[in-house]
Amino acid sequence: MNTTLREGIDWVGYLDWTVRDFHSYHTERGTSYNAYLVRDEKTVLIDTVKAPYADRLLKNLAALTDPSNVDYVICNHAEPDHAGALPRVMEALPRATLVCNRKCQSTLSQYYDASRWKIRLVASGEELSLGRRALHFVETPMVHWPESMFTYVPEEKLLFSMDAFGQHYASSERFDDEVSLCTLIEEAKAYYANIVMPLGKPVAACLKKAAGLEIEMIAPAHGVIWRSRAAEILQAYEDWSVCRPTPKVLVIYDTMWGSTAAMAGEILEGASRPGVEAKLIHVRGSNLTQIATEVLDAAAVAFGSATLNRGMMPMAAAVLSYLGGLRPVGKAGLAFGSCGWGPGGAEAVDAALRAMQWEIVREPLRAQYRPTPEVLSECAAAGKMLGEKAKQIVV
Ligand code: FEO
Repeated sequence: MNTTLREGIDWVGYLDWTVRDFHSYHTERGTSYNAYLVRDEKTVLIDTVKAPYADRLLKNLAALTDPSNVDYVICNHAEPDHAGALPRVMEALPRATLVCNRKCQSTLSQYYDASRWKIRLVASGEELSLGRRALHFVETPMVHWPESMFTYVPEEKLLFSMDAFGQHYASSERFDDEVSLCTLIEEAKAYYANIVMPLGKPVAACLKKAAGLEIEMIAPAHGVIWRSRAAEILQAYEDWSVCRPTPKVLVIYDTMWGSTAAMAGEILEGASRPGVEAKLIHVRGSNLTQIATEVLDAAAVAFGSATLNRGMMPMAAAVLSYLGGLRPVGKAGLAFGSCGWGPGGAEAVDAALRAMQWEIVREPLRAQYRPTPEVLSECAAAGKMLGEKAKQIVV
């Protein structure tokens, strides 16, 4: 595996091929925890890995340098997937000073016993000279946590971006031009939708800071390194940070005895037209990660649930609770669903869609027991309205 980013700058992280549940994110292609070693007149480790893989990181590091040579460990982000190995790493690198910002120090000291670590605090705009090169620090609060920051090497036009621009994607290749672009963008989009989407405003601020830097290569804390497609991922983040819609209609539903499924089918049929991507998603045939990824760039969403115990079915409720936290913005939406002797499902969906401040295009579509031909025509008409709205989107 080629791990060299630039002369004297190498990847020394850990590939987590088999992880499939990353605090409820469905990581179907695994992930990686990226750490980087910079060898200059000073030697620096940038970020670490999850605690169980500390010794794998130290083995990678020892293959390139004597651990007692390491002068600094940079902590760009205190979340345990990147800082969990710090206690073991700081013990194994006797000369190293930990470099982080004040908020990061405070967070780390609540996770770990940092009392014996040498710590140097840095803030946005400060730099650390390594000899031929220097590290510049750019604080990026809330991308992903309050203490997060970028580390930038101007001499190499190289940005260590921690979570930003990452992907949960384990690959034996380390660079964007060595893997399928389609898979890479799919994973970067899923990562944005499921981790970064609620942080649209901080992301926009962060992109503004990045725009002031000359960037040729972006080395994130997960997935592969952007060296040929850095401009593309920066542009994609511009689009995703505002949930820029594409002409796409989603019909997402759960059903009990097939009535809500029949309504969903009619809505999909009504929405389908040339130039519009219409997709049907049964929540129990998908997962939260895939659904959030689809919603990110949808123009319109019809969401349905049969009534169970006067409310939504449980997986429909789980999806809407998850989306409510991720806060996708700027969607047109409508609720639908069947009930038996009393209402509840479609009404609860409608309330959840309104809580996300979507443009609700009509009152909920309802059917009692079985949808009548009139109700099915109403569903087709509602789908047609969503399809027409989506078609107006200019990409
Ligand atoms: Fe990959 Fe916010 O940690």
